[in-house]
Amino acid sequence: MTSLTLFVLCGLMHICRGHSEKFPPNFKFGAATSSYQVEGGWDADGVWSRALTPSHCGRRPVSCSVPLMGLYYDDDESSHKEIRGKGQSIWDRFVHENRDKIANNATGDVAADSYHLWREDVRIAAEMGLQFYRFSINWPRILPTGFVNEINEVGAKYYSDLIDALLAEGIEPVVTIYHWEMPVKILDLGGWANPLIVDWFGDFARVVFNLYADRVKTWITINESVMFCDYFYNIGQFYKEPEFAPFLCNKHVLLAHATAYRIFEKEFRPKYEGRISLSNSVIWIEPASPKDKQLAELGREHVTGRYSHPIFSKKGGWPHSIEKLMLSYSLKQGYNQSRLPAFTKDEIEFVKGTADFFALNHYSTLMIRPAQQGESGKWFLSGSPELNAFLKNPPNASYGVAHDLPVYPTGIRRQLAWIKKRYGDIDILITENGFSTTGYNLEDYDRINFMKKYLEQVLLSIKVDNVSVIGFGVWSLMDNFEWLSGYKHKFGLYEVDYENEKRTRTPRASAYFYACLIKNRSLHIAGECLHMYHSKFKRLVPNGTTITQNGGVLLTAVLLFFCKL
Ligand code: NOJ
Repeated sequence: MTSLTLFVLCGLMHICRGHSEKFPPNFKFGAATSSYQVEGGWDADGVWSRALTPSHCGRRPVSCSVPLMGLYYDDDESSHKEIRGKGQSIWDRFVHENRDKIANNATGDVAADSYHLWREDVRIAAEMGLQFYRFSINWPRILPTGFVNEINEVGAKYYSDLIDALLAEGIEPVVTIYHWEMPVKILDLGGWANPLIVDWFGDFARVVFNLYADRVKTWITINESVMFCDYFYNIGQFYKEPEFAPFLCNKHVLLAHATAYRIFEKEFRPKYEGRISLSNSVIWIEPASPKDKQLAELGREHVTGRYSHPIFSKKGGWPHSIEKLMLSYSLKQGYNQSRLPAFTKDEIEFVKGTADFFALNHYSTLMIRPAQQGESGKWFLSGSPELNAFLKNPPNASYGVAHDLPVYPTGIRRQLAWIKKRYGDIDILITENGFSTTGYNLEDYDRINFMKKYLEQVLLSIKVDNVSVIGFGVWSLMDNFEWLSGYKHKFGLYEVDYENEKRTRTPRASAYFYACLIKNRSLHIAGECLHMYHSKFKRLVPNGTTITQNGGVLLTAVLLFFCKL
């Protein structure tokens, strides 16, 4: 074989591999953040007044200084109402009262200062070529009291400007309505354990739809309820009550989500297109040994099914296995009914079918086995008394800085297949997946490796398992306030300089990798781009054709044609 033939064959294999690794055209790449974690501006916008009759104000615009969302800021009218700027969320209050519980006593008061630097966020999202950017709405920024009696239009305008700027760059805004920033008053009234939250959340969602549904086409009502229902009530993040609260919260979350969905369906979908879901899960569960297979399935129903079955299954309602288990466990405990609150027939119908796609946050995999004597864990990270099960990290897993998130790439493929098997051939949008590092370090090759490995599994899921995965959102666009870990655990494609009051955003190597992946839609080519980046070819989006530069453009065309045959 001549060296030319060898060269052509190698080139052919190279290109064909890149071609088969391509993500399908309907697959979208994005990145995510959440409001408390990036915005700052925790008490922004002071107190301002609003004319009680905006139409009157509209007739005399001279006295109404600042037009906001079609309404007017009014400072010289006697018939005005005082409106607070942003109200306090439970995270504002928690970090201020519990500085010692957060790494380095950090707060989200300023965070990445996205409340002021949102143009920068749009710039970096565009620089990477993101197809969507998922951010969340801070409930008390728009409704300072939590209720609809006051709307902070200055806060509402913030999200409106952000949406417009994203659209101007061709980036789709994906909006999460609730990413854990509950107004304090609502927590004081019982939060997710109070059934009235179903309507309060519905009211909030209607305000949000009214403001943005003309431009936002993909909605996530609620983010990772298993985290704030199961985990938070178990560890006592805001209130400790592991017996009833997780399950009340679970039911109310489902009803609140369904209420928002039904409002959208009736009042907004006819005018504006749009699709809605809620973000679920976090972990995949594997049996620790072959005899734990049944337990693993029960674990999956407990962690994912309880939040999905009522919406996505044909029958609706709780997963049967969990309903049965909770009843017998509760009776054994001496209660006269299940701690898992029942749904009425109407509620089952009301919740069923209230999602247009499945939104999945996936980070990690845990192994399940029966608990040994005296071993107790907290659902969903270390075990469950109800399941009499213990969760442990997979052997030989690797880690970022977060030890509770072992890296186990095949888990995502198995989870995607499970969703399809349980709920049918539904579109799945991966709303979060990410890797944590620590310290200031732009050369984040471990993160790139993580992204490659997980995305390889996603590609196999699409191409081999025929699962309809329609997109992937990296957590996170930039370093942010990682809850109790403060700014120590960094998930960003962009590093944020928290020592600098300008909160400068700088791309990490992973941002270059992702930009190249988005442009070329192939993991293989993205690897090549990174190689070029590594050899200090620091153009943000290297052109995919450069991988064949040795063979020349004609050869590229021939090979590409051949690959397609
Ligand atoms: C999922 C949560 O939605 C997000 O808020 C958090 O920062 C990431 N997991 C990483 O822990």
